[in-house]
Amino acid sequence: MKLAVAGKGGVGKTTLAAWIGDYLARCGRETWLVDADTALSLGSALGLAPQNIPPPLVLDETLIRERVGSGFINLSPEVADLPERLRVRLGNLSLLVMGSVAGAGGGCACEANALLKALLAHLLLDRTQDLIVDLEAGVEHLGRGTVADVDGLIVVAEPSWRSLAVAAQIAGLAAELGLVRQALVLNRAPQGTTLPDIPGLPPLAASFPLFSSLSERQLTSPSVLQLSQRDSIDQGCRAVLNALADPAACDAGGGPELQPPR
Ligand SMILES: Nc1ncnc2c1ncn2[C@@H]1O[C@H](COP(=O)(O)OP(=O)(O)OP(=O)(O)O)[C@@H](O)[C@H]1O
Ligand SMILES: [Mg+2]
Repeated sequence: MKLAVAGKGGVGKTTLAAWIGDYLARCGRETWLVDADTALSLGSALGLAPQNIPPPLVLDETLIRERVGSGFINLSPEVADLPERLRVRLGNLSLLVMGSVAGAGGGCACEANALLKALLAHLLLDRTQDLIVDLEAGVEHLGRGTVADVDGLIVVAEPSWRSLAVAAQIAGLAAELGLVRQALVLNRAPQGTTLPDIPGLPPLAASFPLFSSLSERQLTSPSVLQLSQRDSIDQGCRAVLNALADPAACDAGGGPELQPPR
């Protein structure tokens, strides 16, 4: 499956992307995790040391110019070699640090966007792999069509009105882009939280409590993996994946056939 994770700032998008990627990889699936945010935090959430996290593609002006040109932009640049060249491998998991599409900086934001879109479209074509895109916070990037090709959208929210209102806004925009398969994940939610009546929220697929062990650990390490609550986190990830699974894709061999993680 190709999924994107969206939501208001700080709600736990990167954490959830890392949890789901780790879960899928332990189930034996070839999984790509794509960091499409400015904060570049997905690598550290996976426990990678800073020196092992590559700089974001969006800042590689030489590569961008080489593939896309400047002035006259090649909108179909050659990208087939890039995933292999740029990924960081962690067993079944591959991390690709793209950087923010909206924040593509320097003097070549359009060129960087063209390369990112082509690369994402290329990765999304391969139906045998799973891919999770960790998006930057907010709603703006959804309008750019970057996520138009994903199968499903995970909208993360905290149990707060503002966070849920942004979730509903994101869900509405994504639906306008044709991305109607959506799942809401409540993060840091006390048990038994009831959702307020905010129109347009996706169906709730899973809730994760505030893990005090994670809060404590974040003082000394950015990694969100290998928590003692991993079994219950896996359960939540499974619920999210099931909520977004395409039965037709499963029949065709394209959906995840998950073996219990080792
Ligand atoms: N269920 C949880 N229990 C405890 N801590 C959590 C939980 N979920 C996330 N966190 C912590 O909250 C912080 C923010 O999470 P995260 O970076 O995943 O949010 P984000 O939505 O990706 O933020 P941004 O919008 O900046 O990209 C991190 O330190 C993370 O470890
Ligand atoms: Mg993040």
